[in-house]
Amino acid sequence: MKVLEATGIRKKFGKNEVLNSVDISLEEGEIVGFVGPNGAGKSTFIKSILGLYHIDSGSIQICGFDVERDFENALKNVGCIIENPDLYDNISGRKNLKIASLMHGLKKNTKSMETIIKLVKLENRIDDKVKTYSLGMKQRLGLAQALLNQPKLLVLDEPTNGLDPLGIKELRSMLKEINKVYGMTIFISSHILSEIENVCDRIIMIDHGSIVENVTIDEIKNKNVSLEEEFLEKTTGSIG
Ligand SMILES: Nc1ncnc2c1ncn2[C@@H]1O[C@H](COP(=O)(O)OP(=O)(O)OP(=O)(O)O)[C@@H](O)[C@H]1O
Ligand SMILES: [Mg+2]
Repeated sequence: MKVLEATGIRKKFGKNEVLNSVDISLEEGEIVGFVGPNGAGKSTFIKSILGLYHIDSGSIQICGFDVERDFENALKNVGCIIENPDLYDNISGRKNLKIASLMHGLKKNTKSMETIIKLVKLENRIDDKVKTYSLGMKQRLGLAQALLNQPKLLVLDEPTNGLDPLGIKELRSMLKEINKVYGMTIFISSHILSEIENVCDRIIMIDHGSIVENVTIDEIKNKNVSLEEEFLEKTTGSIG
């Protein structure tokens, strides 16, 4: 089953053509890395598939539901962290999860919430106020929040931003586990190519709003090049 099918996505901001007929499709259970220079259009694409931007043309389906025509059903299947997770600082992590759960209209299911808390390794701090958390812990709480509705598709825009190497490693193992346990499809944008190489099955590269590469990690390995070399060869850099 296709978890995401985006075809012919175009998006302009004024005269600036930011997405130039982008096609991306994701199969169930894949971990796919989305890489490209600053300003290439990654965040714009991600916001478009979440219905946060109105696209100029093209179509976006999530688990078969059209994001523009059937927004609620499409978005029911998605969990995301875009920029920084939305958290309330003055209450505990657990309260944050309860509020998010209510906002999702989810039934009270303490057991699955406990499973998620353990999965993101916050069981020892979940009753402390979020303002006492480190950046890595906040990121993990955001991840827990994104998992509450057990989405088919998890979308992460630069989730490792600001994390130290240990935080990055922890996040990597969590994503692998989430993928294994729930069979969840994960779409992750990052500038840390070594990280992407470590966690993803497939890489999609974007440059100036066009997809320039769509390959499996194994295909890159077979070419005997590093992802960094491939990136520098395929992209021209997007200034402005
Ligand atoms: N809300 C907006 N209004 C006007 N222009 C925008 C808006 N959002 C993005 N852009 C422009 O769209 C282009 C692509 O930006 P986008 O944020 O999608 O890039 P990106 O690939 O996510 O870059 P980065 O790696 O730096 O996060 C840039 O030229 C940017 O200035
Ligand atoms: Mg971005």
